Amino acid sequence: MVHLGPLRIDPPLWLAPMAGVTDRDFRLLVRRIGGVGVVSMEFISSKAIVQGNQRTRELMYFSPEERPLAIQIYGSDVATMREAALVVEELGADVCDINMGCPANKVLKGCAGAALMGDLKLAESIVRTVRDAISIPLTVKFRLGLDDCRRNYLDLGRICEANGVAAVALHARTARQMFTGEADWSHLAHLKEALSIPVIGNGDVREPEDALRMMAETGCDGVMVGRGATRNPWIFRQTAARMAGSRMSEPTLADRRDLILEHFHMVAEREASTFALHKLRKFTGWYTHGLPNGRKLRQAINQLPDVETFLVTVESFLDTLLVEEEEAA
Ligand SMILES: Cc1cc2nc3c(=O)[nH]c(=O)nc-3n(C[C@H](O)[C@H](O)[C@H](O)COP(=O)(O)O)c2cc1C
Repeated sequence: MVHLGPLRIDPPLWLAPMAGVTDRDFRLLVRRIGGVGVVSMEFISSKAIVQGNQRTRELMYFSPEERPLAIQIYGSDVATMREAALVVEELGADVCDINMGCPANKVLKGCAGAALMGDLKLAESIVRTVRDAISIPLTVKFRLGLDDCRRNYLDLGRICEANGVAAVALHARTARQMFTGEADWSHLAHLKEALSIPVIGNGDVREPEDALRMMAETGCDGVMVGRGATRNPWIFRQTAARMAGSRMSEPTLADRRDLILEHFHMVAEREASTFALHKLRKFTGWYTHGLPNGRKLRQAINQLPDVETFLVTVESFLDTLLVEEEEAA
């Protein structure tokens, strides 16, 4: 269990913020499966929040069922970050998270995200100002540093601790690495040694065993899972079961079918059609990994013209798999 101020996070498992992925539907799905401690919203521009951008406000909508929920903001202007954090608090988020790890050029150019690791004075000013402004727990997510020569995560971690941050999450790669190579978990152990606030480990947890191994090897207090959850949204429930010493169950084909269809119907109902199609294709790619004939389906969906045809195709593919499974049994 991890304490974020008055908030008890149990099990200490985080759904990582992922732009274009951890939207309301996906967060709800993961929450309904169970085992997750905190679900994170994708990062939101502090500037867009403060300007009252309509699309941004829609992105920030969440339902009480998702709680505890963290809203992550990014930006480099201290006053704007403060205003945005106040909006996050006002909306009723349980946790405000600051992104200091995004390596995307669009974000770096605005000197936000991981660029803040290159300007620790500014990073500190943002953390202190936001911390002073809000009363909900504040967390900060960052990487090892900008590149191998500038690994300053220990300094940033100390700054966070000294300024009242409730916990830090470390993605154990540099910004330059983007998503290449392997996350180097040894740094999680170093950060854990250096700090007394909770350290949430992140990077390359693909299986429940990875989460347990990360905690055992590094001593980190919690684990954050990103991409692993897109292929296996059951990973939190499975990990929580393993942490509690119980048996871990694998989702059946019927479970997978129900989850995929539930998710896809949510997307189809909420999103405009071209956007929905894009999202459905993306998730089909992840969800069907390892399923018999999954590749065939992934190829077929590229040609599908609209959401209705898409849903019918995926449903009949999954139903056929279920029938084949029953016949084989
Ligand atoms: C599609 C995608 C979008 C992401 N968006 C965000 C984001 O909005 N904020 C953030 O802090 N990290 C973001 N990340 C990074 C993840 O939160 C996480 O740190 C990274 O994927 C490593 O964890 P994993 O190996 O469990 O995926 C994103 C990653 C992916 C793959």
